Order: sequence, then structure tokens, then C-alpha cells
Amino acid sequence: MAWIGELDLGTKPMPLTGPLVALTIDDQRIEVPEGTSIMRAAALMGTSIPKLCATDTLESFGSCRICLVEIDGRAGYPASCTTPVAPGMVVRTQTERLKQLRKGVMELYISDHPLDCLTCSANGDCELQDMAGAVGLRDVRYGYEGANHLVAEKDESNPYFTFDSTKCIVCSRCVRACDEVQGTLALTVDGRGFGSQIAASQKQDFLSSECVSCGACVQACPTAALNEKSVIEKGTPDRAVVTTCAYCGVGCTFRAEMRGEELVRMVPWKDGKANRGHSCVKGRFAWGYAQHRERILNPMIRASVDQPWREVSWDEAIAHTASEFRRIQAKYGRRSVGGITSSRCTNEETFLVQKLIRQGFGNNNVDTCARVCHSPTGYGLKTTFGTSAGTQDFDSVMHTDVMMVIGANPTDGHPVFASRMKRRLRQGARLIVIDPRRIDLVHSPHIDADHHLPLRPGTNVAVLTAMAHVVVEEGLADEAFIRERCDWDEYQDWAAFVSEPHRSPEATEPLTGVPAAELRAAARLYATGGNAAIYYGLGVTEHSQGSSTVMAIANLAMATGNIGREGTGVNPLRGQNNVQGACDMGSFPHEFSGYRHVSDDATRALFEADWGVALDAEPGLRIPNMLDAATDGAFMGLFVQGEDILQSDPNTHHVAAGLAAMECVVVQDLFLNETANYAHVFLPGSTFLEKDGTFTNAERRIQRVRKVMAPLNGYADWEIVQLVARAMGLDWNYTHPSEIMDEIARLTPSFAGVNYAALDEHGSLQWPANEKTPLGTPMMHIGGFARGKGKFVVTDYVATDEKTGPRFPLLLTTGRILSHYNVGAQTRRTANVAWHPEDLLEIHPLDAENRGIKDGDWVALRSRAGETTLRAAVTERVAPGVVYTTFHHPTTQANVITTDYSDWATNCPEYKVTAVQVGLSNGPSDWQEDYAEHARRSRRIEHVEAAE
Ligand code: SF4
Ligand code: SF4
Ligand code: SF4
Ligand code: FES
Repeated sequence: MAWIGELDLGTKPMPLTGPLVALTIDDQRIEVPEGTSIMRAAALMGTSIPKLCATDTLESFGSCRICLVEIDGRAGYPASCTTPVAPGMVVRTQTERLKQLRKGVMELYISDHPLDCLTCSANGDCELQDMAGAVGLRDVRYGYEGANHLVAEKDESNPYFTFDSTKCIVCSRCVRACDEVQGTLALTVDGRGFGSQIAASQKQDFLSSECVSCGACVQACPTAALNEKSVIEKGTPDRAVVTTCAYCGVGCTFRAEMRGEELVRMVPWKDGKANRGHSCVKGRFAWGYAQHRERILNPMIRASVDQPWREVSWDEAIAHTASEFRRIQAKYGRRSVGGITSSRCTNEETFLVQKLIRQGFGNNNVDTCARVCHSPTGYGLKTTFGTSAGTQDFDSVMHTDVMMVIGANPTDGHPVFASRMKRRLRQGARLIVIDPRRIDLVHSPHIDADHHLPLRPGTNVAVLTAMAHVVVEEGLADEAFIRERCDWDEYQDWAAFVSEPHRSPEATEPLTGVPAAELRAAARLYATGGNAAIYYGLGVTEHSQGSSTVMAIANLAMATGNIGREGTGVNPLRGQNNVQGACDMGSFPHEFSGYRHVSDDATRALFEADWGVALDAEPGLRIPNMLDAATDGAFMGLFVQGEDILQSDPNTHHVAAGLAAMECVVVQDLFLNETANYAHVFLPGSTFLEKDGTFTNAERRIQRVRKVMAPLNGYADWEIVQLVARAMGLDWNYTHPSEIMDEIARLTPSFAGVNYAALDEHGSLQWPANEKTPLGTPMMHIGGFARGKGKFVVTDYVATDEKTGPRFPLLLTTGRILSHYNVGAQTRRTANVAWHPEDLLEIHPLDAENRGIKDGDWVALRSRAGETTLRAAVTERVAPGVVYTTFHHPTTQANVITTDYSDWATNCPEYKVTAVQVGLSNGPSDWQEDYAEHARRSRRIEHVEAAE
């Protein structure tokens, strides 16, 4: 079998910028950067020195002693993995003495290793087997009868991988991967000498240990001791395709390793610039949903949502869709229909959906799920800096001295980037966490936040303004930066505003709940601790003052000069895999791709010339407005691609009422999601494994998605949109997504230099990528802001209208968990449910005790909007007065509780602040039982024998 893995040069690379060192290895002269190991230098010239404990993703360790070399003038046989090159060094790697020594070492390993290579799951993909061959070992002199480790139980507790200690050679690559790459420190070498063995946490099984199932140890293991269950079941892969994860905004790239048409495993790609060879449990393991039995593969229609679904041919489904939209427009007017693009689909697919609406429907009624997550980021950063996106690449964090994490939980939401943050923190960077919860970053192995400001939900603006007060009042502002880079008059207005005494930490402490001294110390650290970077998430944006908070963050970064260089910046951690791309592609009702307003005549003329139709200059409806218009009888048809608004949008009853009022709801998705309960047409979607395209991650990095298998439903999503467009009379003739990207580049200045050939050549490009920056833009606003002068905006704190009181005394805030993704449609259909089978309500012990609630009790969660029930988790992670839950499970429907309040500028819902009451309950509420029955009825399918 051909080997399909990536080349392993044994030890890490040294910076190419340092001095070069010349040496001779096996009579060949080579120059390598200073600090390079002899092992790596030899590998670079094509000589592979046997190795077991070394791998180029980890620091050298020097434990196995098989990589010995001879060096002229030095006694003994140094390990080549731990010995750096030196000028003039003369090294020999293949002498007879070395061969004997290596064989002897190998003999000891093999004498304590099962000899079942032929039936071993790693046969052909095992470094121990390879090295035994490389050193020419044919026999073991000691026999196999002595003391050994050949009888031990296999740990199969993890759903995705096994640990078979009989095959372990105690090289500690797994332990080091968990420490260095993942930063969880879940593994250890327990015991000494012959008794040494690998143990998870306190000698627990993997599932009940601290392990977060990232798989870094499995990838690092040179034998079958740690092995994917999928490899054990399906066999070793025989080909690989590089593609991009379809889960979160980190945008990890993977080698999808295939055996024929079957996916065997996902291995993080070492050259991936977003993930640098790492992944989390979702991207590496949770892809089984693609083949899940509940996936819908045939199109379906029904006249009303009370009826069962009827499977139909693609032709019938597409013709029906087109005729319904045309019928509704003829009856209710051009603006009575619209669509929602998906942040999970590719840029090309998203571009086509908004094009269908603008060109085909003739209006701008297009919106996207960013409406409910990062629309305030777009507004806030565009207003202050001039660009609706984060300022840095992920690598920048390795130059950061002070990290400020606000309203984000990176270890759960953006785990691979969190591992990078943790590495930098272990190197000594300082950390400020502003969050109502004690998120894992506040305290984890070898990491303790310098300051945790557990603010009361809804008071972000007051806290950030109080920090700005300290910066200005204590003379910590970077005046030179501000004078050069920002509007000085606006700065002075802002400085006067934040300096007002009632905005001080002391004055705002009763409101925010943050001790003034702690806040002052955090502000001083951020302003004076060196390169300071802000990372934020939905805990910033999903508020009635979401846009104000984003601008308050930008103000703070500009005031302290923390923008425009490595290690600094303002960085939204974006949730879904392509939420950045969906926004870039013109998914908002007021903007074309590249964030250009629909009322701009020149931009419209550009699109009109290309698309051959007159375009509407009026911004269209946002999602909440579409739903309002539906209940008013003015909006009657909706096309929803890859988005489950019923579960993900606020105030579920309101969404349901809007959907129920429409005459035609078309859902394009993998599964019959909750929105599909109200749909009349279901068009089966394709997974990221089944199509070509691109995703854009949180760093503005455009990366290729590559088809690794044929779409099970027959068509990639872009092809389905094209079928609908053609049925509506549009002249679309795309034969490959690369042609769609060419059109995007033609019409979008920031994408002008993006095409598939360039992406294949460079691996990825960060926009803007055009004539000025053909290799893309890893960091923005160097030397000047995209808008010219940075704009300070006065951000007055305005309390949300959602108030606690005697009836609803607690504040609910929501979030996500590592093992699940968004509404859980994909991850709930994988073995990830082992970690999180249901949504739980976190409640502080004091609040629980006051209500007689114990851990695991059923509790009713009530707000002014609705009620649901779920189990309680009593924990000090939340402060007294605050409760927290996730929204991954439709049986809980946490959004029944959330209100209609939203960000003043963008309508982004206020998910993070809901006044609630919690009380003991006997189990699911009537509403939940009714809903479950309604969902069951609306999912009935009348199957036909051969629906095309
Ligand atoms: S489990 Fe694998 S990586 Fe870990 S020590 Fe054993 S052989 Fe090495
Ligand atoms: S899977 Fe990840 S977290 Fe778990 S032990 Fe391995 S490296 Fe550590
Ligand atoms: S879910 Fe996010 S962090 Fe995890 S592998 Fe995918 S892109 Fe990476
Ligand atoms: S590879 Fe060098 S000591 Fe193990």
C-alpha cells in the first residue's frame, strides 16, 4: 500500500530569518538555520535517521535512543533529535557501529511488543514497524517469555479512539502532544522504568478523564497504541484530499483520508495556516452525520404543513419551487419573497443565493444567520476602523503580551485557537477575562487569569467605558498613536466623555458587579503590558448594545495604540465555519458583496452590467422584519438554505408564527430541521465532503473546500440553487464553483486577486487580496486605518429594557459547549452526544439552595417570553444571580425563553440577557410535549419507490 501521510522531518523548524549554519552530513554539505537539529538537517537533504520518540510537531525529547549519530571530535553517540547543528560539524548517520546500536535498541522494543503486525489496525501505517525494517531487525535474541506488558486491557471508552497499552512503547509523544499542542495536560507517564505506563488523568479511562478528545495524541502515536476506531473498522486509508472543516470559524484544514469512496479519518493538515496541524473533537471525529440514517436524500413537497411529506423528483421539486415564488410575487408583489443564506455553505453557494434573490426575485430581501451573531461586529468595526472584520491572523497571538478575552469561551467555541492562546499564556503572556462565567481559561493547567471581571450580563459597555476612564484619567493613552492615526477632535470628545466621574470603576461597580480595584488593575495591564490583543465573541455582540460594545472595544484598542502590529488588534471569534464569508458575499439586505451599500449607484451599475437586470436600490428586510411582515400578510415566500431559524433565532413562538403565516417555505438542508416543520418544499442539501468551494474563517482566510465523495443527494448545494435560478428563467451556466469565484472576484474589489489557482498555489489567501496585496492581508490597518483616520465613537451605557424583578430575579445567558455545534443538527447525530446528551441549566449553589434544587433535578426555566424545562447543573462557574444554558437540543428549545430585544443598530438579538425564574419541575412542560408531537407529525414522509 502506498504511504499517504505527510513528511515528518523529526523536529520543529527554526525561523528562516536567523543565521545559516553549514555542516557536513554523510559527506554532503548542507546549510540550515541555526538551532536546527541534526535529524532535521539530515531529513532536509533526504537522509532519514531512524526515530521513534521524535516528530516534527513536538519539541525534541531524546528518550528512545534510536536516532544516534557519530560526530567527528565528539565522544559517544549523541541523539540526532536533540543535538543542534554547529558550524563545520561533520556527522555520520550510517556507520556499522550505529547500525548495531540501533538494532539493539529496536530489539528491546520489539521483545515487549505483540507480534501481530499482519492483523494490527496500523499495519502499513506504524512507525515501529517501519523502524524495525529500517534498522534491519529480523529476530529478537531475548525471546518473548520474560516480564512484559503484553497482557493489558484495551481502553475503548472514548467513542472515537482506543488505547491499547500492549502496543505502547512509552515514547511519550501522546503526553507531549496533549501538553504542547492541545494544552489540556490530561496524560502522564505513570510509574518508573519498566513499570512506566501512560495514564489519563488520575489513571481513569479516557472518557471519564480530563481528555477533550482532540485527537492530538492519536495523531502523534507512532504505533497502534492510540488508534482511531474508524481505522480499526474500515482499514487504513489509501488516498487523501485536503479540505476545510465545516464546523467553526477557526477554519482548520484537514487531510480527508479515504479508502475508495469511504472516509476513514480526518487528519489535521500540518500546512494549514489556521490550525497548524491541530484540530478539535468536532472537526477530527464528528463527521458521521454525513452518513446518518436521518439524512434526507430525496426532494419533498407538501401542500400544507399538516400533511405528510411526499417524495418527488428533482424536476418536480425545482419547478414547484420556482412556480410558487412567481405565484406569490404575482399575488403579493415583488417584495413579498426573500431568502436566508447559510453560514455553513460555501462562499460560492452563499453568493448564488443572494444573487438569486437580487437578480431573480428582484429585491434585497436576503439576510443571514450573522444577523443573530456578529452583525454588530460588521457595524462596529466598519464604523471605527473602516472594515467589517477582525484585524489579525491567528499566528499574531504568539506575539501577544496581554490577552483580553471578552464574552467568548474559546476552549469550547474555538478550541484550536484556544490551544494557541494557552501555549502563549504558558510562555508568560498575561490574561484578562471579562465574562459572567468562570470559563475554563480563567483557570486551567498552568494557566491562571491575572484578572477575571465577572460582570453582570448586559453591562459590557459600562465595564469597557470604566476601563477607558482609567486609561484616560491615569494618563495611559498613547497620544502619539492617536494624533497620528485617529481623528484627534473625536478622541478629545470621547476622552472627555469617558473621564466623567460617574463612569469611573468605583461609580459603576454597583451596576456592573465588578470590583473597582480589579477593573483598574485590568485596565492598567491592558494599557501598559506590551502588545495587547482583544478577542471577543457573542457575549459582546448578542446584546441590545452589541454594536456599542464593539465600538467601545475599538476605542480602547485605539486609545492604547494596540492596533496595526503583530500581537495586538481587535479580533471577533466568529462562530460558524463561513459566517465571515456569508457576510462578505453580500448576505445582508443592504449590502452587495464586499460590504457596498445597495443604494450606491456605481456599485449597482457594476452588478447590473454583469447580471443584465435592473437591481433594487432599496435595502431589503432583515430576518425579524421578514417574520413580522409575514404575520402582517405582506411576506409570503422564503427560501432558507442551511439555516434552522426556528431553533437558532430568538423568541421561538414569534418565529413559528411568522413561518406558519407564509404560503411557501423552502428549506434546503441535510436533515428535517425544526424550521422544516413549517416548510412546504424540502430540497436535500450536500455536506462539505461532497462539494467544491471555499470557506472564509475568522481571520478573513479564504480556504478551499474540496469534494472527497459524490453528493449522496445527487447535487451539490450550488447546483441546486442554479436549478432553481434556471427554473425562474435566469441564464446561469456555472459548470464548477471556480467560475462562481471568478465572478465574485470580478465584482468585489477585496476579492479581485482570489481564484482557485491562487488558492491551490498558496494554500489560502486572507482578503483583501487584489493587485495591491496579491498574497493577501494577514494583518490590517498597518500604518493607517482602512477608513483613513480611526474614529472614536462615544458609547453611552444604556441599560437593556429586559429587567430583573421579583417575578424574574435571575439573569439567563446562553452559549455553546465544545462537543456541540450551533443548533446541534450535525453533532447530535454523532457520537459527540456521549459528552453532552442534553442541554443543562447551570445555576450557582446559593440560588439552587434557595429554590431547593439539587444537581440533576428537573427545573422549569421561565421568562416573560416563555417556559421550558431541563436539568440543573449546580456549579460555581456562574455567579449568584446568573444562570446559563446551551441551545444545542431542540427538546429544550432555549430560545423559547429569549426575548425580542435586539441590538439598536443591527437587530442582533439580545440572547445574552433574559430575566428568568427557575423552580423545581417534574419533567418536560406541556409546551415541549406538544412541540415534540407537532414535530413528529410534521416529519411524516410518504416514500415512493423510485423518486428519481
Ligand atoms: S500511547 Fe503511543 S504515543 Fe503514547 S507513549 Fe505509547 S506509543 Fe508513545
Ligand atoms: S485526545 Fe487530546 S485532550 Fe485527549 S488525551 Fe489526547 S491530546 Fe489530550
Ligand atoms: S470545529 Fe473549529 S476548531 Fe474544531 S476542527 Fe473544526 S474548525 Fe477546527
Ligand atoms: S528519536 Fe531521537 S531519541 Fe528518540
